[in-house]
Amino acid sequence: MKKCKVIVTGGCGYIGSHTVIELIDQNFEVVIFDDLSNSSEETLERIQSITSVTPIFVNVDLKDAEATDKAISEHADAVAVIHFAAHKAVGESVQKPLMYYKNNFYSLLNILSAQEQHKINTIIFSSSATVYGLPKSFPITEENETQRPFSPYGNTKKVAEEILDDYTKSQPDFSAISLRYFNPIGAHESGLIGELPNGIPNNLMPYITQTAVGIREKLMVYGNDYPTKDGTPIRDYIHVVDLAKAHVISVQRLINKEQEKNFEIFNLGTGNGSSVMDVINSFEKVTNVKLNYEITTRRDGDVPELYAATDLAKEKLNWVAEKSLDEMIDSSWKWEQYFRNKK
Ligand code: WQD
Repeated sequence: MKKCKVIVTGGCGYIGSHTVIELIDQNFEVVIFDDLSNSSEETLERIQSITSVTPIFVNVDLKDAEATDKAISEHADAVAVIHFAAHKAVGESVQKPLMYYKNNFYSLLNILSAQEQHKINTIIFSSSATVYGLPKSFPITEENETQRPFSPYGNTKKVAEEILDDYTKSQPDFSAISLRYFNPIGAHESGLIGELPNGIPNNLMPYITQTAVGIREKLMVYGNDYPTKDGTPIRDYIHVVDLAKAHVISVQRLINKEQEKNFEIFNLGTGNGSSVMDVINSFEKVTNVKLNYEITTRRDGDVPELYAATDLAKEKLNWVAEKSLDEMIDSSWKWEQYFRNKK
C-alpha cells in the first residue's frame, strides 16, 4: 500500500528531525524542506542510521515564492505539511526584527499559497507558549488571551496563528492545527540527534550541558528573586520526543478529518512547572556532575511562571506527555556527550 507523504519544513532542525523519526516510525513517507540556515545535512544521515530510511531532502529557501511553489508542486501528493521552518532565537529577534518578520512570515505565506495552488489542504503549525506573554492565570489554557509577546520572534508566532485563523475562515476545505510548545528539551534515546548548538545557547538546557562538558565556564542563573517557590522562574519542560509524537497524532487527526473546526490550537506541555533550580538539581542527580553556576540578575523578557493546561490535547488528541524531567535531562546529557566525542 502506498505510504502517505508528509512534507516537513525545517525537518533538519531540532524538533523537526525528532518529528521526522516519529513519522517514519508510523510508516509515513517524509519529504524535508530545509535551507540549512540553522541545521545540518548531517542530520539526514543520523535519521537514516536511526530509522534505516533516508527522507527525501529538498534544499529550498521558503522566503523565495517561486522556489517554494516549485518544491510543493513536486510533492503535491503530500497529505499534510508540518511547518517548523522559522528563525527562533528570542534574543536575536530583538536585535534583528526585520530578519525575523521577513523569514517567518514570507515562509508561512509562501507555503500556504503553494498549498492552495497545489491542493494540499492541511497544515500543522509550530507555535510557542510565548504567545501568552505575561499570563494572568494558571495553568495556561488555550482560552487564555494571547498578549503581545516580549519578542519579535514571539510576535511572529502570534501573528502567524492569526494568519491561519483568517485563512481557514476563508477556506472551509483547508484544515490547520497550531501546536503551542512550552519548553522543549531532551533528545532521541539513541543519543544520535538533539539540539544542534549554534553559537552561545540562549536556552537553559543546552547551556547546562555545555557547561558540564567544559565548553562554557559556568551557568548564569538569571535571577532568584521571582515570586516562586525558590525564587527562580518556573517553566513547563517537555521532552522533544513527546512533542514529536503529538505532531504525528495531529497529522492523523487532520487526514482522518476528525476536527470539529478547521482551525484548532493545542498546548503541548506536561502541565508540571519546574524551576531553574529544579532543573539544576535534577541534572546533578541524574548525571552525578557538579554544575558550576552563579546567581545573577534577571533577564529581560523573562516571566515568573509558564506552565500548561493539557486537558484539551488529552481530550481531542488523546495525547499526554510521558517522560519525566529526569529522563529529559538524561537524554540531553547523552546527546551532548555523543556530539562532543563523535569523530
Ligand atoms: C528557561 C529559564 C531563564 C538560560 C524560550 C522561548 C520559547 C522557546 C523556548 C523557541 C528561564 C533561565 C536560561 C540561562 C537561565 N523558544 N535561564 N540561564 O525563555 O522559557 O523560552 O525558549 O521556541 O519560545 O521564549 O526558555 O531555556 O531560555 O529559559 O537562568 O543561561 O531558564 O531565565 O527562566 P524560555 P529558556
